[in-house]
Amino acid sequence: MSRELRLTVFGAGYLGITHAACMASLGFEVLGVDTNAARVGQLNAGHLPIYEPGLEEFLRAGLDAGRLQFTSSYPEAAAFGDVHFICTGTPQQPGSDRADLSQVHGCVAALAPLLDRPCLVVGKSTVPVGTARRLAGEIAEACPGAELAWNPEFLREGSAVADTLAPDRIVAGVTSGRAEQILRQVYARPLAGGASLVVTSLETAELAKAAANAFLATKISFVNAMAEICEAAGGDVRDLAQILGADPRIGPAFLRAGLGYGGGCLPKDIRAFVARAEELGASASLAFLREVDAINLRRRARTADLAQELAGGNLTGVPVCVLGAAFKPGSDDVRDSPALDVAQILTGMGARVTVYDPAALDNARRARPELSYASTLAIAAQGAHVVLLLTEWPEFTALTPGRLGGLVARRNMIDARNALDPVPWQEAGWEYRALGVAEEAAARARLDASSW
Ligand code: UDX
Repeated sequence: MSRELRLTVFGAGYLGITHAACMASLGFEVLGVDTNAARVGQLNAGHLPIYEPGLEEFLRAGLDAGRLQFTSSYPEAAAFGDVHFICTGTPQQPGSDRADLSQVHGCVAALAPLLDRPCLVVGKSTVPVGTARRLAGEIAEACPGAELAWNPEFLREGSAVADTLAPDRIVAGVTSGRAEQILRQVYARPLAGGASLVVTSLETAELAKAAANAFLATKISFVNAMAEICEAAGGDVRDLAQILGADPRIGPAFLRAGLGYGGGCLPKDIRAFVARAEELGASASLAFLREVDAINLRRRARTADLAQELAGGNLTGVPVCVLGAAFKPGSDDVRDSPALDVAQILTGMGARVTVYDPAALDNARRARPELSYASTLAIAAQGAHVVLLLTEWPEFTALTPGRLGGLVARRNMIDARNALDPVPWQEAGWEYRALGVAEEAAARARLDASSW
């Protein structure tokens, strides 16, 4: 492998497209592989099938430079690549907390028999610990010169390109010095740019991703547990989070209290981690993560209850405006979206719910066709008795109480992301409620503001 390495990337989802386009931008020749021929055609034409700021430019630059292409042919990919990245999805199994590994297993089962020269297969998908060791055996058996490494990805939707090209750390789970050298060659630029490299075992590399996600979810659920206490005791979780975050040992990131986490990663990865610990006979070690998940889901029910309270105790037939469908701003992803869950709960309570989102409406319509959607904020808010801000898009946080007040029938606002300044809303006659801020604390804020 003395010439420049040629890379393949299996799985043209979020991770795979980003990885393929970013690796091409580093100068490698890259072949993306997906069994979905329609998606392959779309990508080869330079169209991004997902919403990710900046990524389409990278995709097109790679295609235009002739360094990036997509195919659905495994034989073509096996013949092309020196390093094969596996970026296929690992969703939650229906009816179980475990990860569904069929795409990863399917990919390796199809690729391994086609390998006929020394190469490195690199797993990036999030998998239960122990998966890599089994796959390594399969690959070595199929082709003596081929081996497996594990190299988890920590990218966030919305900043996927930057997270890939300038990661905080690169984890190389390897079983040989040769595999380490190849990964050093692939990541030479990010390493030169200051990313740290941790060379470790396959198992630790798999655990690194699960543990990082578990920690992030725990931090969010911790602050949301404090929000519950604030609601019960008359505190304000926004002040509390500011005080906690000022301690450098704690830090302010991931301490935003509100509706909690969703998306295609944290919820299912946390559950799969617990399920794997149970299989390993270590269930006590991760039992707390069940509580982390439970706290997270409780915020959704609490938000719906608050809406019912503001509607005078009964939501039957009440027009409700839901602002947000994506699991977070800057994304069109509605997988395990807290916003859509709340919309569904409210509908179940009898409310006439209309959902608006600046980017995720198409995905939301596909995922929950039973809900009603509006193509503009103004239509969604028209005549509403309660407005819920469930995804903190800039379009929503920039709303003024006067403008929205001109559309709704009753001025009731639930700020489930703690994204608005309560004072102007209260001054404009809105009944403003936030998660983690007791009614008395909100009233005190109003009083403090008026006494100045
Ligand atoms: C996450 C991890 O950050 C990433 O490292 C991993 O590889 C995949 O999962 P992502 O799903 O893109 O990335 O979203 P992230 O920005 O981490 O947010 C996750 C969820 O937590 C969102 O629903 C967000 O609204 C919520 N969140 C985040 C909070 O509720 N409070 C916070 O303080 C931070």
